[in-house]
Amino acid sequence: MLLVATLISLLIASILFFLLGSIAGAPWVPTSKSVVRRMLSMADIKPGEVLYDLGSGDGRIIVMAAREFLASSVGIEINPFWIFWTKVKVLLYRLSGKVNIVWGNFFNQDLSKANIVTLYLLQHTNEKLKPKLKKDLKPGTRVISHVFTFDGWILEKSDHKSRIYLYKIP
Ligand SMILES: C[S@@+](CC[C@H](N)C(=O)[O-])C[C@H]1O[C@@H](n2cnc3c(N)ncnc32)[C@H](O)[C@@H]1O
Repeated sequence: MLLVATLISLLIASILFFLLGSIAGAPWVPTSKSVVRRMLSMADIKPGEVLYDLGSGDGRIIVMAAREFLASSVGIEINPFWIFWTKVKVLLYRLSGKVNIVWGNFFNQDLSKANIVTLYLLQHTNEKLKPKLKKDLKPGTRVISHVFTFDGWILEKSDHKSRIYLYKIP
């Protein structure tokens, strides 16, 4: 009986957190690993650079950035389930110190330390983020969005097949 109650509570919590993500910016839909690898290759990450993933979901971008591209990375995620899951992966892959995960709303976080920002959100969320990205990010920071664009910004690189769009903060 206790097990059933626990499972139902977990299911309800998952649905609520999924809705929370959707309301706050975008629902959880993972970027395929091959597209993540392509995004990170296009980012041309240099030693010592810091990558931020806004809405980091299960942590796949920040973990791959640290493991395969030797970047320091920070994920900001509103859903505590994904925070927990990413922390487990960070421990398993021994990435403490290389990967940081922040539980919160990316609209309220300081992004100024980023050299690269990745996102897979929604068109209207990208639009809403524009002033914050322009205010927080240093000139030269690469902003790499999967599927959704930053209309009006100059596109530096793109991969239309994988729907990856890279912009540079002027
Ligand atoms: C489409 S998923 C992308 C996940 C991951 N970046 C990837 O590419 O696999 C979007 C994620 O953003 C999170 N999210 C949405 N709005 C957010 C906000 N305002 N602050 C932090 N996380 C948010 C959702 O919970 C979800 O996990």
